[in-house]
Amino acid sequence: MTHSTASTNGPSRRIIILISGGGSNMQAIVKAAKRDHWQARYGATVTGVVSNQREVGGLACAQEAGVATHVLSHRDFTDRLAFDLALMSLIDQQDPQSPNHVPALIVLAGFMRILTPAFVSHYAGRLLNIHPSLLPAFTGLHTHQRAIDMGCKFAGATVHHVTAELDHGDILAQAVVPILAGDDAASLAARVLTQEHLMYPQAIVKWLQANAST
Ligand code: GAR
Repeated sequence: MTHSTASTNGPSRRIIILISGGGSNMQAIVKAAKRDHWQARYGATVTGVVSNQREVGGLACAQEAGVATHVLSHRDFTDRLAFDLALMSLIDQQDPQSPNHVPALIVLAGFMRILTPAFVSHYAGRLLNIHPSLLPAFTGLHTHQRAIDMGCKFAGATVHHVTAELDHGDILAQAVVPILAGDDAASLAARVLTQEHLMYPQAIVKWLQANAST
């Protein structure tokens, strides 16, 4: 399913955001891109949002912001590689002026899928993720509860390059928050998420500046 409201007049550097849910990080990035004039400053525009889940809140938010949305459900594929190959094809065909063109940057924003080595190597160097822990601590799921259970005094989030190994890859940015007495996973997640919304757009700008020729 494709819903296109965007006017993508062939920006030189396309950014595609992948989501699986509410998409609050995606919204923070789209908002920052407009507010801070990423097209004029860095030649970069968010041209598409892809979700592997149907009818998630993030899709409606992206449409309201005028960004083209696409749904590709992993449930329609027999295995992980088949889904990833279809996802690669969808992402690369979204440039109206140059189909089969790899975007400048793929941003995973709450995209809850483990990606195959084929996908990761196809976008090597241009694939970022945000993970809700201070990596290398607490890879995987339930990061906030695990940090509380371990008696950690601080938690946070990490923006990192994606490699074939889950939640590894070079770190671009980290945000730290305190863990307060009485915190549960939900209250800690909310505190961390506020910082994610600030950090992720800044980390993307840092990447755009460092990869100006991409
Ligand atoms: C964010 O906290 C993000 O760090 C996390 O999912 C949430 C998505 O929220 N990502 C992961 O856990 C990836 N392993 P959002 O949909 O509101 O941006």
